[in-house]
Amino acid sequence: MEVVAGCIGSGRGTAEVMASLASLRGAASSERAVVSGWATRVLGARLRIERALASCAPELLGDRALGLTLATMVEAGVEPGSWSAGLPTQAQLRAAVEELEDPGERFATQYSAPRWVADRLRAHLGDDAAAALRALEARAPRALRCNLLRGDRDALRSRLAQEGVDVEPGRWAVTAVTCRDAADVFATRAFRAGWFEQQDEASQLAVALTAPPPQGRVLDLCAGSGGKTLGIAAALGNRGAVLATDVHEGRLRALRARLARAGADNVTPHLLRGDDAAVARFAAGCDRVLIDAPCTGTGSWRRRPQARVSVTEQDLNGLLQTQRDLLCRAAAWLKPGARLIYATCSLLAEENAEQVRWLLARRPELELVRVAEVLGGGVAGPITDASGMFLSLRPDVHGCDGFFAAVVRRPRRRTPQRS
Ligand SMILES: C[S@@+](CC[C@H](N)C(=O)[O-])C[C@H]1O[C@@H](n2cnc3c(N)ncnc32)[C@H](O)[C@@H]1O
Repeated sequence: MEVVAGCIGSGRGTAEVMASLASLRGAASSERAVVSGWATRVLGARLRIERALASCAPELLGDRALGLTLATMVEAGVEPGSWSAGLPTQAQLRAAVEELEDPGERFATQYSAPRWVADRLRAHLGDDAAAALRALEARAPRALRCNLLRGDRDALRSRLAQEGVDVEPGRWAVTAVTCRDAADVFATRAFRAGWFEQQDEASQLAVALTAPPPQGRVLDLCAGSGGKTLGIAAALGNRGAVLATDVHEGRLRALRARLARAGADNVTPHLLRGDDAAVARFAAGCDRVLIDAPCTGTGSWRRRPQARVSVTEQDLNGLLQTQRDLLCRAAAWLKPGARLIYATCSLLAEENAEQVRWLLARRPELELVRVAEVLGGGVAGPITDASGMFLSLRPDVHGCDGFFAAVVRRPRRRTPQRS
């Protein structure tokens, strides 16, 4: 309950809140698993449970975290012991949702999604929308990205095993390992020595898709606290140059600390303030520009459950405009042969393929690069859309975050043929 209250109060994700709680310091892995499992479940079911409680037990919403936790337990068929007095029954909770008359409202509530998201997912995914939304209520696998500057994945597995942390190779990304239990990985010596960062496999695939050439120059335009920057720095083997920009100073501060821990010294963090000639100059000589765009985050609700309730349809409209602005700026910088990688952790087509198609319509000189051309056919096959052009990941299909990425290239100029 402390974790649920912390997430609701601060807007932070469950992992972050758990890491900050003194009461969980030194807790056994099994205890952490139970706490994290329930917190995820409660926060995932929040919109459905709130709706049900509003009609059958509104007084429980007075202490939101407590009411939601108890009602989610009842919904899951768990008897909350002496707390059960005054709680609705499982059947009452279900009926409160099933009796909603409007089918769109009923579907959104059943799957604990805001109506504007549920409608869009149904239009885009059809019957699969239910499975995708259901998967977003479950606990996300805990993936770590091996820092190749310290050692390879096997070396990381051995180091973690020495500290009692049991991991297995990830399913999709060659840099990924997945934790088999809920051990506190941030308390390990391996973490302090920069051997890994916690990062979903989908984000690791975005790093792989950036694929900078040896000694290459990369602009990471929306670097934030550097999840992907760190992976790119390692992919370059600490050579070349990465300019990591963002509009958020606090995130860049966090990036500096992470760079030091990882031993990455080919990255320059840079705070964006309006038009920036230094960034434009760097970008004009770049091999890759990554836009890890600000988005609704609908694909990463398991990790940031607050986005389920805090992001609005008005926010979507503003985000769509920001994404287009970023795409236009980056496309104008691309030198011949350079690539733009556009990524979001959203499941909404408007933020994903539709934005890329919009860019290509405005900039017909640019071309899409097939994912298989970058990652190889064997890797790309199961993680692309039907056209093979877009990285397209879903929690219900791939287990990782809902994620999208595309690679766009400015073709090299053809040398004129002599007759
Ligand atoms: C999805 S997050 C980036 C996450 C980061 N790349 C990572 O892997 O950890 C999007 C970032 O875009 C930044 N952002 C928002 N508007 C921006 C803009 N106009 N220019 C550059 N960055 C922007 C936000 O501050 C946020 O850090």
